[in-house]
Amino acid sequence: MTKLLNVTTFSFPTPALFGAGALAELPARGHRLGLRRPLVVTDAGLVSTDAFGALVKTLGEAGRERDWFVYSGVHPNPVEQDVREAGAMFRERGCDGVIAIGGGSALDAGKAARLVVKRPVLDFAKFYDESDWSGLAPFIAIPTTAGTGSEVGRSSVITLAATGRKAVLFHPELLAKLVILDPELTVGLPARLTAATGADALTHCIESYTCPVFHPMCDGIALEGVRLIVEALPRACRSGTDLDARGRMLIAAAMGAVAFQKDLGVVHSLAHPLSTICGLHHGLANALCLVAGMKFCVARKPGLYRRVGISCGLDLMRCPETEADQQTIGFIARFLAALGLNTRLREHGVKAEQLDSLIAQAVDDPCHKTNVVPVSPDDFRSLYLEVL
Ligand SMILES: [Fe+2]
Repeated sequence: MTKLLNVTTFSFPTPALFGAGALAELPARGHRLGLRRPLVVTDAGLVSTDAFGALVKTLGEAGRERDWFVYSGVHPNPVEQDVREAGAMFRERGCDGVIAIGGGSALDAGKAARLVVKRPVLDFAKFYDESDWSGLAPFIAIPTTAGTGSEVGRSSVITLAATGRKAVLFHPELLAKLVILDPELTVGLPARLTAATGADALTHCIESYTCPVFHPMCDGIALEGVRLIVEALPRACRSGTDLDARGRMLIAAAMGAVAFQKDLGVVHSLAHPLSTICGLHHGLANALCLVAGMKFCVARKPGLYRRVGISCGLDLMRCPETEADQQTIGFIARFLAALGLNTRLREHGVKAEQLDSLIAQAVDDPCHKTNVVPVSPDDFRSLYLEVL
């Protein structure tokens, strides 16, 4: 119980407006936050979607057609230039707040653009030298996918121009002042992406729950997130217009990200290099590594997954620890397979020759430092080989 003696901060500070049609409240809510000339930050792909059309209609209907602006240059993995361009547009147009709409990349870029507004010559690599990030422009986050949970996160992952490496900018001031979770905005997401992004959220819940940091509130949120995903993700994939399933997935994705304030684990360290080196979608990469990662963890520390399994609907109250683990892992494997997420890495273009660089990046990745058991370079090799 010594962990209880540590002084810890528990915080869940993001107001979230949830429900089908919640977007309609954006003008009034934005106005209340001081947004008169917002900059909308998104990616080029989203501009042609119904979700973006709904945003245009909402902002237009408020009679402010000429008082909001769009930056739509965000890359799938946002780069420094995206953030600088959005920041420059913000200043040129005299904007007073940011509305980011889209997946995790658009939300991360929108979050970070406010830093450049405050410090136009900001060197991202020296982000942590700055002691005062107060007074950033207000930020509203509107996710159109249910996975990353970036909308409730206080970090932004940006690829640096000078080194090509990803910088994680982390500061409580980066948090959104308002999150709008409107399931109507996610109905256009194809089944394949719905499954992959949902698997990201599932991985957040499972990895944060088993992360050995004392945070019972996050643990409860993670387990309820698992329950919601197991129930709603198959429905959202089967029928994209099922607003109930879409809504539950949006909430579960936000819950997964709230839960991973605790941190994540080995699966995310396996997944990150698969995206940066091999171009795999982040959710898909997690999905393909999740079962192997879970097996790895319980082989060294049995008894991790009983409550995860119970959240999946399994009757595991009285069975031995190892059986509870095995049944849970078996359930997750079948669940992912039913969503078409049981393919091998090589089917997505990953080559054995890339193993060394994958392992090197995975070892450098911070997520496994908080895994429930230590992970060595040899462990990473075995894990990649298992799923290759
Ligand atoms: Fe993730």
